[in-house]
Amino acid sequence: MRKPMIAGNWKMHLNRADAAKLAASIKNGLDPQLKHEVLLAVSFTNLESVRKEISSSPILLSAQNMCWEEKGAFTGEVSPVQLKDAGCDYVIIGHSERRKIFMETDEMLNKKVKAAFKFSLKVIFCIGETLEERENQKTYRVLQTQLNEGLKGLSEQDLTNLVIAYEPVWAIGTGKTATPEQAQDAHIFVRKEIERMFGAGTAAAMRILYGGSVKAENIDELMAQPDIDGALVGGESLKADKFLRVIHYQPVLSK
Ligand code: 13P
Repeated sequence: MRKPMIAGNWKMHLNRADAAKLAASIKNGLDPQLKHEVLLAVSFTNLESVRKEISSSPILLSAQNMCWEEKGAFTGEVSPVQLKDAGCDYVIIGHSERRKIFMETDEMLNKKVKAAFKFSLKVIFCIGETLEERENQKTYRVLQTQLNEGLKGLSEQDLTNLVIAYEPVWAIGTGKTATPEQAQDAHIFVRKEIERMFGAGTAAAMRILYGGSVKAENIDELMAQPDIDGALVGGESLKADKFLRVIHYQPVLSK
């Protein structure tokens, strides 16, 4: 069985005090019986204040990006060793905002994933097509390339420390969620591709999160899909009550 994960991506929001406050509200609102994983991906400057707040809780800490080098003359970058030292369990790699705004290529992302594993960080690896690519029937081709190039040279063992997040670019921050069926179709494709690349066992165990306008109002039907193993949540994760509702989703089973 794949353990679901609900991850909040706070992007470039909040100061240290507000980040700590929000982390505390989320921590305090968690059902102690919760069986799945909860993760917060925060700005570098907020890692320490959030780490302190969640250290006595099961919440996992993640960065949103990193450099592929261990150390050296890379002004403005943060290394996997520094993230590990800051208490990170995970790092997000390949978010569409990194790919698009900061021109990160598949090759760069592949180096980042490998560097993360080298220094024992787990990875949330993001993939997803733009609206234009979807309208031109290129969705599967884009996902395939992002997986093939981004995960090139990794072992089955590496893949046990990786979570995939399918985030259609057209659904991010737009209020336009993929329908549960659209998301399920893409997830099935991703799982098949992982099977082709790494074998059936790896594919069956791979957690695939959906991201893109996930809200308290739509999480239940998304999580009812058999291949959706969790969510990567942007805007809705900045509001404690809403995010707690997402975390405590109740999949609607009768469809
Ligand atoms: P929204 O939930 O705000 O659409 O953002 C999704 C996202 O990019 C999470 O990484």
